[in-house]
Amino acid sequence: MIRTDENIGKTPERNTLVIKLDRDRPDPEKLSFCANVIKRGGLVCFPTETVYGLGASAFDPEAVKNIFRAKGRPSDNPLIVHIDSSDKLPLVCSGGPEQLEKLDLLSKAYWPGPLTVITDRDPAVPDIVSCGLPTVGIRMPDNLIARELIRLSGVPIAAPSANLSGKPSPSTAEHVIADLFGRVDVIIDGGPCDVGVESTVLDITGDVPQILRPGAVTLEDVVRVLGKGELPDWKKSPKEGESPRSPGLKYTHYSPDAEVRIYDGKDVDVIRMAVAREAERLTAEGVKTGVFTTLEGAEYYDGDKLTVIAAGTRDDLITVTHGLYAALREFDKRGAEVVLAEAFPQEGVGNALMNRLFRAAGGCVINADQQN
Ligand code: TXA
Ligand code: MG
Repeated sequence: MIRTDENIGKTPERNTLVIKLDRDRPDPEKLSFCANVIKRGGLVCFPTETVYGLGASAFDPEAVKNIFRAKGRPSDNPLIVHIDSSDKLPLVCSGGPEQLEKLDLLSKAYWPGPLTVITDRDPAVPDIVSCGLPTVGIRMPDNLIARELIRLSGVPIAAPSANLSGKPSPSTAEHVIADLFGRVDVIIDGGPCDVGVESTVLDITGDVPQILRPGAVTLEDVVRVLGKGELPDWKKSPKEGESPRSPGLKYTHYSPDAEVRIYDGKDVDVIRMAVAREAERLTAEGVKTGVFTTLEGAEYYDGDKLTVIAAGTRDDLITVTHGLYAALREFDKRGAEVVLAEAFPQEGVGNALMNRLFRAAGGCVINADQQN
């Protein structure tokens, strides 16, 4: 079933097996089978609490190379190494006492959980995992299937999100199947992911911990545990000649086929008025238009003429992040050409939500205050 040798340097075609597992009580035999695929250099997609990952043994450079090939991922965008317990840290991290102390505090507070920590890389982790960087991203996922898979494999698992490069990350097994069926050995179906957007990426190699990618663990959470931290303005693109701290940041990720435009403004009613008016104008022009809103916003829009998708509630933004990527994929499925998205407050987990929306929109933000 695993066809690594004949695939090297050629097409990423594989016979894919889809295996359903209970997220609370995964069948041990089926899990052992999946772990054996990892041990033999194969590719296994698995659920985590954030999004699905596309995994291979982090210590097998050839298998890791196949991850890049299966996703069509640029070869300078490093992968996160997933561990099942803190005992495995010395295998991958070579940070000094200062880093280890920070890592200890963070892991006690947020692992297992949606936090990836960038530390100095142990030479045992092959160059290809970190694309030659001296650092490595490490994460312990809060999902039993994921942790059992890593434990039974006996090695840390390198895994990016299990989508084709440039597509929204997968928050259900169906999304993974749509993108990667025929390109990986196994897809584990463990149900929908809880968080729905990728982990917070936190670099602790410098004096002040820096959030390179906002996620469900917020800046406030980091400062509470480490005493300091920074979230650089992710709306600014790096200056000419300047390389971003996290290579992934330079790519237009998370974009659906539809053109996404964000409507921001001081107040949500003003935002909705501007969205409704523009949606009406576009529809009159014959443009298939979608609207991204929340449950309380759905009634403002004409569901007969528009593709209206409501995710979660403004009272709890994690519920909106939960539905974001599924919504972006659904707009494409329903043939929306332009999607008008309501903006959300950039506070706490709202940073993660707006960061992903901003990228899906290629930075297109319209000020609703000036439209009315
Ligand atoms: O929630 C998640 O993080 C998911 C699940 C599967 O764990 N994984 C994920 O991986 O989102 P990926 O590859 O799609 O995103 C990893 C991000 C990229 O932006 C990459 O550039 C950054 O982490 N990254 C990884 N290693 C890094 C390093 N050593 N230094 C700086 N950035 C790093
Ligand atoms: Mg990704």
